[in-house]
Amino acid sequence: MRVLVTGGAGFVGSHIVDRYVDMGYDVHIVDNLTSGKTSHINNKATLHEIDICSDSFGKLLTEIKPDAVNHHAAQASVKISVLDPKHDLLINGSGTANVALLSAMHGVKHLIYASSGGTLYGQPLKNPVHENAEIKPLSPYGVSKFAGEEYVKFVARSSEMNTTIFRYGNVFGPRQDPSGEAGVIAIFAGNLLTGKPCIIDGDGEQVKDYIYVSDIADINTLVLEEDSSKTNETFNIGTGTGTSVNTIYRTLREQIGSDITPSYGPPRIGDVRRIFLDCSFVKRQLGWQVKKTFSEGIENTIAALKNP
Ligand SMILES: NC(=O)c1ccc[n+]([C@@H]2O[C@H](COP(=O)([O-])OP(=O)(O)OC[C@H]3O[C@@H](n4cnc5c(N)ncnc54)[C@H](O)[C@@H]3O)[C@@H](O)[C@H]2O)c1
Repeated sequence: MRVLVTGGAGFVGSHIVDRYVDMGYDVHIVDNLTSGKTSHINNKATLHEIDICSDSFGKLLTEIKPDAVNHHAAQASVKISVLDPKHDLLINGSGTANVALLSAMHGVKHLIYASSGGTLYGQPLKNPVHENAEIKPLSPYGVSKFAGEEYVKFVARSSEMNTTIFRYGNVFGPRQDPSGEAGVIAIFAGNLLTGKPCIIDGDGEQVKDYIYVSDIADINTLVLEEDSSKTNETFNIGTGTGTSVNTIYRTLREQIGSDITPSYGPPRIGDVRRIFLDCSFVKRQLGWQVKKTFSEGIENTIAALKNP
């Protein structure tokens, strides 16, 4: 099978690329390296340094004719989306429309789209939140990821292409940028390992669904191996349980053996207070469920930061 992974030089995409290479697939990557790194790229995959918003994306599809496109390229920062919503919408809305429309036009059989369960629902009335819950994002990022979903669904309605939408919880694991602002686990682990203090946004009792990246690679593989009658769907992908930032901090401090106490800052704009995902549909439909415990995921993340 030939698969094109957009964003394959990024945190999540690069783990999916590794898994696809292990499966024996012919793997191509489209990434413009805005936040991705060539050091993340598996040497058995081929990098095409192309912008998803460009016409070159279509030309590449004509050349390599992938069976599947797995779309993970994005402007993935909530903070940047608040500072520059126009840019965020260009990459996540317009860029996803380009990927979806061109994929259908060039005969791609299956499109997978990485959406965001952590931001789309805003502050849900009930947790765990089901796929059918109201969409009420609290950030431009949540809006642009949903715009991407709507384009993918529109293309699915008007073509033969099989489309799968994954609404991830908060993904964590090796290669998440500790100097960035996106992943609290990577940032705190990076700080504690180098003896730097950590600032917890708000009171630290905000709760999210943290999922280890190898479980994300698992579902992205399973979905390509399953029959299309089961995969033409939108799935929440998380653990089904919530963890607070204070618990993350305590777990990291214990595992690292640090005695640094955190300080508390103002709450983050556009942040959701309490969310975790109902993942019963993906379990029923595809038999997928998480394999890694939170503690095992934290252990692996710390080990990777110690030995980059
Ligand atoms: N990390 C999470 O917790 C999480 C949660 C929900 C959904 N997602 C989604 O998963 C995907 C991957 O997220 P990530 O955390 O790995 O982010 P990331 O920033 O590490 O990866 C995104 C990749 O896309 C590339 N990219 C950005 N703009 C591009 C463009 N215009 N053309 C080509 N490539 C471009 C970047 O260089 C990078 O390699 C994104 O779609 C994100 O919205 C992530």
